[in-house]
Amino acid sequence: MRTVLFNCGPIVSFDSDAPLVGQNMTNEDWLIADGKAIIVEGNQIAEIVDSKTALDDYSSHVDNSETSLFDANGKAIIPGLIDSHTHIVWGGDRSREVRLRLQGKSYSDIAAMGGGINSTVSKTRMLTQEQLFHTAKRRALTALSNGTTFIETKSGYGLSTESELKLLSVAKLLDQDEHTPGIDSTWLGAHAIPDSHSLESYTEEIISQQLPAIAKSGLARSADVFCEPGWFGIDESKMILQEARKHGLSLRMHIDEFCDGGGGQLAAELEVDTADHAHYTNDEARERMREAGVNTGFLPGTPYSMGANWPDFNEMINLELPWTIATDYNPNNQILSLPFIGSCLVQRCNVDPLAALASCTINAGFTTPHNSGLRHGIIAPGAVANLNILQSNQWESWCLTPGHTPVDSTIMEGALVNNEL
Ligand code: NIG
Ligand code: FE
Repeated sequence: MRTVLFNCGPIVSFDSDAPLVGQNMTNEDWLIADGKAIIVEGNQIAEIVDSKTALDDYSSHVDNSETSLFDANGKAIIPGLIDSHTHIVWGGDRSREVRLRLQGKSYSDIAAMGGGINSTVSKTRMLTQEQLFHTAKRRALTALSNGTTFIETKSGYGLSTESELKLLSVAKLLDQDEHTPGIDSTWLGAHAIPDSHSLESYTEEIISQQLPAIAKSGLARSADVFCEPGWFGIDESKMILQEARKHGLSLRMHIDEFCDGGGGQLAAELEVDTADHAHYTNDEARERMREAGVNTGFLPGTPYSMGANWPDFNEMINLELPWTIATDYNPNNQILSLPFIGSCLVQRCNVDPLAALASCTINAGFTTPHNSGLRHGIIAPGAVANLNILQSNQWESWCLTPGHTPVDSTIMEGALVNNEL
């Protein structure tokens, strides 16, 4: 199966072998000028050539159902977006918490009042795998309509071996569904302390029962811990992550969401793949993370939803940190649109739109690799054919339409979906 997308507008290629940092995030050398054609063979990008060459070579092949030609009409093309931190498998509804927050109650106050993560856990445990799959699939399709072609998602609303395995099985079913984005699956059993346990007894259960069962199931590539004072402290996080590593899992962390709890230092020490939120991480820990090759995963939707401020992203560019942005979709922050997150950076925080785009494409591809083993988040020969054709002929439009999608059509693993061409 071959697809020839000709008459492309500007293409954002990001064809780099390493995450983009510093001024490389805003370098216009990553742009390919108008007039090219992208040739897709199977699930891969085969080549990028002049449109005329492509039409000369392939126009005569269209009778053969193996080749399809599409006219991009000068529209801008960007890589498929990679949402490198989400929680999309859960049930229940916590909308009611918004008024408590407006009355001044904090995240931990609301958890202590019976809301928060544990209330989602009790609702989620009551649902079948089929019910959870139905809602998670709807979320994944909404993300796709906003240009997301690959999603990292975490368990963490089961908090028992059996329920965590159920959530990871739902993620597996989503990954196998050809209509939804591919899935990178993470175990987050260390998300909160279930009401039935103390921190000590739950940590012990994770180490002796949950992690061995998760590893044996093969349902998660990575392990994650909510490392934050009041949830999992530095000692428990370290024990759990070290144990997960022994089981062959890659490591990720939630750190410093509400205060500087020392998570950045631990992330650097353990050389985890990505340490996310990282809102209150101090400068020294940020530098140690950079030296240790740890990505910082900013989640600007969470402070947006909770009424907090944003870190200085341009300072992260000046410091040459590798960083990503993701939606962090969860019951407390129901954002599935990476273009909206891009708008927060560009239209609220003065970040260059090319840097914002790099952070949810090429850079996210390094923390959240594609299951095929091919590169993604870039438009270059040999990469997965995941790309978005925008409605506009200017690539900057990718993050300038908050509230509705900037995407016209998407090619996902070589197949044209949401086709408006
Ligand atoms: O990344 N902060 C920890 N976990 C999620 C929120 C979970 C929830 O409130 O249900 C996050 O923001
Ligand atoms: Fe999260």
